[in-house]
Amino acid sequence: MEVPALANLPEAAAAIWDFAKEDNILLFEGEMAAGKTTLIKELCWLAGVEEPVSSPTYALVNEYESNRGAVLYHFDFYRIKDETEALDMGAPEYFYSGNKCLIEWPSMVLNILPEHYISVTIDKGAGEARTITLKRN
Ligand SMILES: Nc1ncnc2c1ncn2[C@@H]1O[C@H](COP(=O)(O)OP(=O)(O)OP(=O)(O)O)[C@@H](O)[C@H]1O
Ligand SMILES: [Mg+2]
Repeated sequence: MEVPALANLPEAAAAIWDFAKEDNILLFEGEMAAGKTTLIKELCWLAGVEEPVSSPTYALVNEYESNRGAVLYHFDFYRIKDETEALDMGAPEYFYSGNKCLIEWPSMVLNILPEHYISVTIDKGAGEARTITLKRN
């Protein structure tokens, strides 16, 4: 799926929710500044989250509630030291909570991720273009 510019993000986000269906774990892969947080903002907005969405910093996870009463978790594991730190903050309880988990830098916690997930890979091409690849695991 090609996402030519920021203006097309709503379409990309809709396609991602469509693809994910019942899957709760969504991994966002891509180099720094690829657009992971930007895409997650769009996904949250589409899911009915009206509060501001930004990358969690110290807490590792942000919790949002949508206007339909759904809970979403947004993780950013970029600064994590090791998987123990993720276990200590209760990551598995969030992962298996039945709520949607949107995870930036999942490569830092590979060994503790659930078996089934959707991976969303963002590749930054020349200029504004982004290519988004969806995969089901
Ligand atoms: N689809 C897009 N088209 C054009 N620009 C984009 C797109 N997505 C993100 N950007 C821009 O790229 C910059 C980085 O975006 P963002 O913070 O979402 O990246 P990130 O992958 O979350 O970065 P990090 O690795 O630091 O978490 C922002 O200035 C944003 O506006
Ligand atoms: Mg980010």
